[in-house]
Amino acid sequence: MAYETLLYEKRDSIAYVIVNRPEKLNALNHKVIQELGSCFETAQGDNEVRVVILRGAGEKAFVAGADINELAVQSPVEGKETSLRGQKLLDFIENLGKPVIAAINGYALGGGCELAMACTLRIASENARLGQPEVKLGIIPGYAGTQRLPRLVGKGRALELILTGEPISAQDALRIGLVNQVVPAQELMPAAEKLAQKIIANAPLAIKFALEAVNHGLEVSQAEGQFLEATLFGLCCTTEDMKEGTRAFLEKRAAKFVGK
Ligand code: COA
Repeated sequence: MAYETLLYEKRDSIAYVIVNRPEKLNALNHKVIQELGSCFETAQGDNEVRVVILRGAGEKAFVAGADINELAVQSPVEGKETSLRGQKLLDFIENLGKPVIAAINGYALGGGCELAMACTLRIASENARLGQPEVKLGIIPGYAGTQRLPRLVGKGRALELILTGEPISAQDALRIGLVNQVVPAQELMPAAEKLAQKIIANAPLAIKFALEAVNHGLEVSQAEGQFLEATLFGLCCTTEDMKEGTRAFLEKRAAKFVGK
């Protein structure tokens, strides 16, 4: 499928989603949000895709935020709809059932930082800068940044980023746990692919259930989360891959998983 604002490729069980508006630093306009929705639906429904890697086109930006041209002319009702639409997309990405790796190749600001936070894992290039600058525009984060950022880095650090609006370096993002790894720019995609392949080597249903246990578990009490974990653990015990994984270990050979 051809997209106006995205590039989509598939290679070695990895789907590559590239936000492709480099002249606007890949800012998220309505079209990008809509196309990301259908692109991630495609990746979700494609059994050959085990991991998605998301990045921005060009050398400068992952995504420099929601498109300020659109924001500037929004009515309150449209503003609310924009926020809800963005939140819905990011919820979908977070709960895709397959890991999504954000390869942060430059600015990840506002909606860009929020998009990266909805991904499962984040790798940043050394030149990346991350932040939530919305208050400088008279707004607050609207794609769940006020919710995901404190869950990822803690309330104090989240509020510092949200209230100052100042971006931080990739190294500082690593220090506070906003990204998982920082690598030189030329190593960004190889590092993302290496991480993806480590995940791809594992049992697909175990990956899906582990994601569900963590994502749903964070929304409920620990006791309910543990009950969910035990139930999903039990479900894993019904799979062919569980039999294969445990047998392969005992037979001292590599497991061949089939996702059943
Ligand atoms: N929305 C719309 N357009 C954007 C954008 C955004 N969020 N971020 C960048 N652009 C556009 C610029 O307007 C410019 O377009 P133009 O060439 O037609 O004037 C182009 O992308 C390049 O950006 P520019 O500002 O010239 O690059 P820079 O290197 O000087 O600065 C940033 C880079 C990221 C610091 C700066 O673009 C910026 O602050 N962007 C907005 C970040 C933001 O507030 N995001 C949150 C929005 S809620």
